[in-house]
Amino acid sequence: MIRPVYIYGSPVLRKVAQDIDSTYPDIKQLIEDMFETMYHSDGVGLAAPQIGLSIRLIVIDDSPMEEDDPALKDFKKVFINAKIIERFGEKVLFKEGCLSIPNLREEVERESSVRIQYLDENFIPHDEVFEGIPARVIQHEYDHLEGVMFTDRLSVLRRKLIGGKLNSISKGKFDIDYKFRLAK
Ligand code: NI
Repeated sequence: MIRPVYIYGSPVLRKVAQDIDSTYPDIKQLIEDMFETMYHSDGVGLAAPQIGLSIRLIVIDDSPMEEDDPALKDFKKVFINAKIIERFGEKVLFKEGCLSIPNLREEVERESSVRIQYLDENFIPHDEVFEGIPARVIQHEYDHLEGVMFTDRLSVLRRKLIGGKLNSISKGKFDIDYKFRLAK
């Protein structure tokens, strides 16, 4: 089932999300819904707070970015209770977007590599290092679990410049073809 995407200004996007365990109700269905919602809106990653659930669940499928890196062909993963242990490597600028901030794209600086501990969809623990585009998407989605939006990572000046745009986005002044929900 496709879920509505919560838009910038929704309080749930500013909360620190909580860990879950395997008794979380209908977790398989929820993961399926998140992938479906993400594909429907042409996203490459989605965090549970973006569908209104303040839990530490992320889905990522970077295969649409295969053109940039052939290794991404099969990069489809679920991250539960993710914890970034270390960010390292060079700082890289990359133009990011977010399903919760429609039609806004900005260069964001992040480290090129991350080490992350997480549980997969079967609640099996992993401790892995990612670099390149996966590291970028993981850091973006991870921010959602911490109540951080990518626009928070822009310079003070840049944030000032896009302030009006963010304000109109939070009021629903945008044109997208996926279901969404504004702050009440
Ligand atoms: Ni996002």
